[in-house]
Amino acid sequence: MKPALRFLSVILMSILLGCVSQSGSSQEVSEVVVRRPSNPEQFGAGARLYTHETFGGNGVVCAHCHNPLTDFMLRPEDVQRLRLTHPTHPLFNPLNSDEGDGVAYTRLVNHGLIAVDVQLPANVQIVGSPTARSTRLFRAVPTSLDSSLHALMWDGREGSDLAHQAGSAVAQHAAGRAPTAAEGQAMAAFQSHLFTSRSTAAYAANASQPPPLPEVRSGLPEDYAASLRRGRQFFVDKPISGSDPEHGGVCAACHSGPMRNRTNLFNPGDPPNLAFAGNGTSEVNANGLPARTYEIRLLQALVVPPGSPLPIPPGTVVAPAGAPIRVTAADPGALIVQDPTGQVAGANPCISPVPCILTAIGAMPQPSVFHRIPSLHGTGSRTGAFFHDNSAHSLDDVVAHYRDRFLPGVRANLHGAALTAQAQGNAPLAAFLLDMEAGMNISPQESVDIVRYMRYAFRVEYAVVP
Ligand code: HEC
Ligand code: HEC
Repeated sequence: MKPALRFLSVILMSILLGCVSQSGSSQEVSEVVVRRPSNPEQFGAGARLYTHETFGGNGVVCAHCHNPLTDFMLRPEDVQRLRLTHPTHPLFNPLNSDEGDGVAYTRLVNHGLIAVDVQLPANVQIVGSPTARSTRLFRAVPTSLDSSLHALMWDGREGSDLAHQAGSAVAQHAAGRAPTAAEGQAMAAFQSHLFTSRSTAAYAANASQPPPLPEVRSGLPEDYAASLRRGRQFFVDKPISGSDPEHGGVCAACHSGPMRNRTNLFNPGDPPNLAFAGNGTSEVNANGLPARTYEIRLLQALVVPPGSPLPIPPGTVVAPAGAPIRVTAADPGALIVQDPTGQVAGANPCISPVPCILTAIGAMPQPSVFHRIPSLHGTGSRTGAFFHDNSAHSLDDVVAHYRDRFLPGVRANLHGAALTAQAQGNAPLAAFLLDMEAGMNISPQESVDIVRYMRYAFRVEYAVVP
């Protein structure tokens, strides 16, 4: 780290430690790269607001949830400790309780999840509660690191406006007065100087310098290097379709681009460069969160797009505008918010057309739930949990999710859809679906290799010096 950066980090950590140490968090300080601010006063004001300002609300500050000691996230084990050592800590306020009444805090205490009220666009209704205009979801705290480099929130609903998001955060979590424009900008400036690595900091400063997907460097013990190479190979090159063995990478199909948060050309179901995808977290619902059924009316006719992999002629209308699409989910993510891809001025359950088309023709029970694809930078050394519902506690859990739950689910869906297509006499569609089914698996050795490669590639230490 350059001296200027280290100096700033030390100041930052002492401001932040003063704030959080009484919360009983463990004292291992997570590594953070701070870019030298062009306006140090604004940066300092933002740091103070972020760590100390309650805005006259319930006593909660940003850093209570985005804890600087733990990658600016909230770990379930730290909430559990806090519940024992500081049962009256401001985090235990009714807003964060299971039912909003201050009685029970099981989702916060057991899983580190925060209640979030998401407004429903006009074309979305909750089945059974037709007058409800918002839905209460329980979500993990994402890190503030690298937050200037990707869409905000698990469903993308805040776009990339950090100052606006800070205002929403105060209203949602602190129940305080609205921050002034200058305060919002200061908090945005503070956060947009915090990075997981020097390579993401360099990328923020210069868009022509994207962080590389690391090759395995020489000089490592051979067994370890071989494992890393296999992990990298799986991530970027493993064929995902028998009919196209040249191209693939099961992980890179969704984790591509500079921030590893975009779909690529070889994604079998979704268009390339999409910032949203479904990885089955909500469908599996490992933490048993309450599910609701949402009815989303299509704002446009659902038409098979050009270049679709489905053997249905492009231009075919599979559902008219106004048709209801129903989704039952613990967290419907991007499907129920103002379309973050900007295609329609409302909720868009067909952010990815293929699963929607398969639903409309009766080959799938409902479209996949979509969330913002998270950046993978920093995940290699992260001490907090993973996924929007904190259901994975380590990278081993993450890979186990893909291996044992997501991919078998994908295979089962593809197989069921293939059988339906066969029964309907659509042999080309059936063949296409079976071909995809065959490529979707992770072996025990690959599980080990992927985790090693993630720890190697997406941690602070590897970062390239700008
Ligand atoms: C009570 C806990 C809590 C507090 C306090 C809190 N946040 Fe958050 N924050 C969250 C949760 C949960 C999300 C994700 C919500 C979602 O996706 O719907 C989030 C999301 C964010 C994000 C988006 C990050 C990303 O990658 O998507 C930013 C930035 C952020 N908060 C900044 C702030 C700021 C600034 C403050 C203080 C003004 C603040 N937060 C206070 C819990 C909290
Ligand atoms: C179909 C698209 C898709 C594929 C394929 C995919 N991911 Fe993901 N990944 C996502 C989405 C979407 C999320 C966020 C899910 C959520 O929390 O609901 C995610 C989350 C993650 C996270 C957690 C990040 C965080 O901040 O919590 C990690 C780590 C991860 N994926 C690694 C992988 C690895 C390793 C592979 C390959 C074995 C992989 N992903 C394959 C879409 C995908």
